[in-house]
Amino acid sequence: MKVRNATFVVSAVHPSQFPRDEGAEIAFSGRSNVGKSSLINALLSQKGLAKTSSTPGKTRQINYFRINEAFYFVDLPGYGYAKAPKRERANWGRLVEPYLKKRETLLGLVQLVDARHDPTESDLQMVAWLSAYEFPFLIVLTKSDKLSAKKLSAQIRRTGRILSEWGDLPMVSFSAKSGLGKDKVWKWIETRLGD
Ligand code: GTP
Ligand code: MG
Repeated sequence: MKVRNATFVVSAVHPSQFPRDEGAEIAFSGRSNVGKSSLINALLSQKGLAKTSSTPGKTRQINYFRINEAFYFVDLPGYGYAKAPKRERANWGRLVEPYLKKRETLLGLVQLVDARHDPTESDLQMVAWLSAYEFPFLIVLTKSDKLSAKKLSAQIRRTGRILSEWGDLPMVSFSAKSGLGKDKVWKWIETRLGD
C-alpha cells in the first residue's frame, strides 16, 4: 500500500461521533501499552500521528485516521490496565463492545499481543469473542525487537499452541522499532479492504 496521505479525523467518546460516510475501516485492539498507536504510526510511516506513551492508558477514545481519502484506521483504547479506575474499565466496555458488534463498515481487526509474554486473560477473552462472532482478525506479536530471534520463534510457537483452541489463526511478528512484519500486516489489511 502506498500511503499518500493520512490525517487524524476524530477522537470519539460516543458512536454519534463516528464518521458517517460508510468508508471501510480496520481497527487495532490490544491491552494498554501493547503498542497499538505505535503500530498505526509505523504502518503509515508517521511519527506522531497516533499519540503514543510509555504510560499505559494513553488512548482512551476511539480515534479515527483517514488514509488516502479511501479508508479508516481505528485506534481503540487499550484494555486490561490493572490500575485503571473501575469507572474507566466500565467505560471501555460501553464504548468498544457496541463498536465491535454494530459497526458495519469495520472489515477487519488487528489484535496485538506482546511478543515477550503469553496472551493475557483479557487477550484470550478478545480472541474467544472475535472467533465466536467469526470476525476476521490478525494476531500481531509486537515489540518483537525486544527478544532474540531464538526466543521470538519459541514464543511464536507457544502463542500458536495457546491460541490453537480457536484454530490456526493468522499471526505476524512485528516491531514498530525495526519495521519487521510491516509488509505482512499491510498485506492482510489490503486483503480485508478488498484491494
Ligand atoms: P494505550 O494507548 O495506552 O492503550 O497504548 P498503546 O497500545 O497505543 O501503546 P503505544 O503505541 O503508546 O506504545 C506503548 C509504549 O511501547 C511506547 O513507549 C512505545 O514506544 C513502546 N513500543 C510500542 N511498540 C514497540 C515496538 O515494536 N518495539 C519497542 N521496542 N517498543 C515499542
Ligand atoms: Mg494508544
